[in-house]
Amino acid sequence: MRWSLAILRVSAPIILALVAPQASASPADRGLAFARAHCGRCHAVGPRRTSPMREAPSFRTLADHFPVGDLADVLVEGVDRRHPAMPDFRLTPADAADLTADLEGLRHGLRP
Ligand code: HEC
Repeated sequence: MRWSLAILRVSAPIILALVAPQASASPADRGLAFARAHCGRCHAVGPRRTSPMREAPSFRTLADHFPVGDLADVLVEGVDRRHPAMPDFRLTPADAADLTADLEGLRHGLRP
């Protein structure tokens, strides 16, 4: 049917434009997006140093003080046991890897 072809022709580029940026995002970008969505309520994420919740260390501080490899383990096994003030988070290894990439970037000053 001509009609559906026309719709396809109009909508395909829009759908591609919506999907493509996500597909090409680097692990560090995904990590930052994850941090913003799940951790930014309390922790300063990205380059910021002042956290919305005072007791929560900024991620830049974490990156400076934590061996970032250990951090991935902590995130997957759950942070709650060590810090009752923080809700129970258990990241999938994939999310933890993205977040670690984000923190690595902060630590090395690769990210603005
Ligand atoms: C409701 C607030 C809140 C949220 C949401 C939150 N945190 Fe925290 N987090 C805290 C607080 C408060 C501390 C410091 C606790 C302490 O020092 O006892 C902390 C500490 C940490 C630490 C330090 C652990 C250590 O052993 O020193 C890590 C790592 C961490 N958070 C990661 C995360 C990650 C990753 C997320 C998102 C997936 C997240 N947090 C979301 C409140 C939060």
